[in-house]
Amino acid sequence: MKYKTILITGGAGFVGSNLAVYLKNKWPDAHIICFDNLSRKGSELNLPRLAAASIKFIKGDVCHVDELLALQSIDLLIDCAAEPSVLASYANPEKTIATNLEGTANSLQLTKRDGADIIFLSTSRVYPIDPLNAIEIVEHATRFDWKESLNENGASYKGISETFTTDGFNTVYGESKLKSEELILNYLKENNTKGVITRFGVIAGPWQMGKIDQGIIGFWIAQHILGGNLQYIGYNGSGKQVRDVLHIEDVCDLVAYQVEHLDKLNGQTFNAGGARDVSVSLFELTQLVRKVTGVTKEIGSQMQEREGDVCIYLTDNTKITTATGWRPKRDIHQVISDTYQWIIDHKDQLEHVLK
Ligand SMILES: NC(=O)c1ccc[n+]([C@@H]2O[C@H](COP(=O)([O-])OP(=O)(O)OC[C@H]3O[C@@H](n4cnc5c(N)ncnc54)[C@H](O)[C@@H]3O)[C@@H](O)[C@H]2O)c1
Repeated sequence: MKYKTILITGGAGFVGSNLAVYLKNKWPDAHIICFDNLSRKGSELNLPRLAAASIKFIKGDVCHVDELLALQSIDLLIDCAAEPSVLASYANPEKTIATNLEGTANSLQLTKRDGADIIFLSTSRVYPIDPLNAIEIVEHATRFDWKESLNENGASYKGISETFTTDGFNTVYGESKLKSEELILNYLKENNTKGVITRFGVIAGPWQMGKIDQGIIGFWIAQHILGGNLQYIGYNGSGKQVRDVLHIEDVCDLVAYQVEHLDKLNGQTFNAGGARDVSVSLFELTQLVRKVTGVTKEIGSQMQEREGDVCIYLTDNTKITTATGWRPKRDIHQVISDTYQWIIDHKDQLEHVLK
């Protein structure tokens, strides 16, 4: 691995902290710096883990370019700093734009200064809502699904591929990430640095500070353990809406591959997710969580959909698997049991964050 100093912005967050620990274990000689303003509630709980792994932490804000440019020279930047909630972008679009778009633009100033490469964590939310919700749906006993014959415009029974349109309303969150992607691709060309973009579906696992509007898998499990109300929102209040789910360790496997093979992957944009094999409806999630926790909770229903919601999202991993050989290794049971065990092991600390 050629990179001596790796900066992870948002490095105290769910993805950033897990990646930092994973990469440090894999490449102990690498100097890894996590940069984070600790705005996500619970991010501070990751600091002892980072320190124990000999990872440097710097408190700072990607919205303040001077704080980024005050950092030492870096060789690779992994951009994990974000306001990652769609609903938060409805409430405060300016903050989402500042954090996600301006923050990435500021980070690019640093990569330009140092001739550093960049790995960008984007989102399936770049794909617009109306075309996704226009895909014909069939209703099964425990979930909604697409027709097996679906195969049009980048959408198939397998999932959504990179050729699906990005034109249309995709929320300020989705747009902030899409515009960041475009900026990055332009910087790569103009500055002769390397980079790769990955649009992830739902990611879950230990150290995700799940809340009602972001990190739904962790939130759902935590409410079973710690108490709190849960509701199936929208889609007839049935809980049949579907997401694919990627275990955080599968994300780390993929990013580590990208770190080692940036020359080959340079300038490309990929989708990556749990795909059909690791997908779940909320209703199915409830049944699985009941088994693991031994807790049966009453789940309420709300008929009205939430703003910016989509009924089904599944990733077509064909492009990323063809290019890298990577595919998800952990199933939904492992996502749930690993997250459950983490909450149990850190219950006292997590009670004030996850409840
Ligand atoms: N978690 C998912 O399901 C998911 C899915 C697709 C894409 N992503 C992307 O992955 C990346 C990481 O997401 P996550 O799940 O780890 O979110 P997270 O909220 O756990 O982590 C983001 C971190 O960024 C920090 N941060 C926020 N604003 C900042 C600022 N102005 N300056 C410095 N740090 C700041 C937060 O304190 C937090 O620690 C994001 O870019 C997100 O869009 C996440």
